[in-house]
Amino acid sequence: MQVEKTTLEQFLSTHLRKDLHQSGLHSITLQISKAVVSIAKMTSKGALAGVLGSLESQNVQGETQKKLDVLADEAFINALKQAGCVLGLASEENEQPLFLSTQGSDHGYLAVFDPLDGSSNIDVNVSVGSIFSVYAAPRERPASLQDFLRPGLEQLLAGYAVYGPATMLVISFGQGTHGFTLDPESARFFLTHPSMRVSEQSAEFAINTSNERFWEPPIHRYIDECKKGKTGGRAKDFNMRWVASMVADVHRILMRGGVFMYPRDTRDPSKPGRLRLMYEAKPMAMIIEQAGGLASTGRERLLELVPNNIHQRVPVVLGSKDEVERIGEYHADYDQEKA
Ligand code: F6P
Repeated sequence: MQVEKTTLEQFLSTHLRKDLHQSGLHSITLQISKAVVSIAKMTSKGALAGVLGSLESQNVQGETQKKLDVLADEAFINALKQAGCVLGLASEENEQPLFLSTQGSDHGYLAVFDPLDGSSNIDVNVSVGSIFSVYAAPRERPASLQDFLRPGLEQLLAGYAVYGPATMLVISFGQGTHGFTLDPESARFFLTHPSMRVSEQSAEFAINTSNERFWEPPIHRYIDECKKGKTGGRAKDFNMRWVASMVADVHRILMRGGVFMYPRDTRDPSKPGRLRLMYEAKPMAMIIEQAGGLASTGRERLLELVPNNIHQRVPVVLGSKDEVERIGEYHADYDQEKA
């Protein structure tokens, strides 16, 4: 007898409580899944869809926008508008949040997203992703920019989609991390990876080593030990992987353990890290912590940081618990010595 697979809709109906608050999250998740399906269609057609290449424009980060960055941004905005309960939207691609008015919904939400993460990979046909997170919005007054600047612990929903050989949607409502795979024929997501867990130990790390000369001593110490392998203090060999798409790198770590680092560096003193707190670090931190891993800046728990602006950048160290703890200890040792 063939066992029926659980669809995303069925999962949401059983996983989320039946109160109004949860029904808003239900429709937001379904709308996000629709945006993901439309982005997956574009990425899988590649050059045939005429969506590759760059535009003349730059985003708020000063990065040249890819055609697909803009199309993916539109797909998210249009889908989230349809949810009927989203009062504010903030995206990597837009300097200021977009505020919406909704009627007839008792609960309102704020959504934050990076519609196409790792977009430099798109023209060379390597995996990219989308990252998103959702917060409650005030109902007694119009939402403002300040309402977005909340710690990651207040996220009601966090997740990502990875457009790889298969498209997967990975989400957490704060009760575990769950993975769904897209069936491209029916355009539906099925639960394929319930209650995902990051292994506590690992022998794999992900970091852009071309930045080595800009790292702080604790990161040098950790990476040097990994590279010495069996002949060094760790007494085991490590492997290294770097896709340069945070979603793909973090997804691999979720599946088979490891540690992802984009640490603080001295390249540009005005930027304490490369990755964005609101729409990269915080949602990924929730996904990883809900799967039993840890996520920090090296010095602080990422989910506890209170953002000071919507496009703020932070150092990121996340993945297998034992490795993230070790890197945290190396930072503490270094800070103590310096003091
Ligand atoms: O922030 C965007 C991003 O593309 C991430 O997805 C990725 O981890 C990182 O930047 C890649 O950085 P680099 O170009 O330094 O390898």
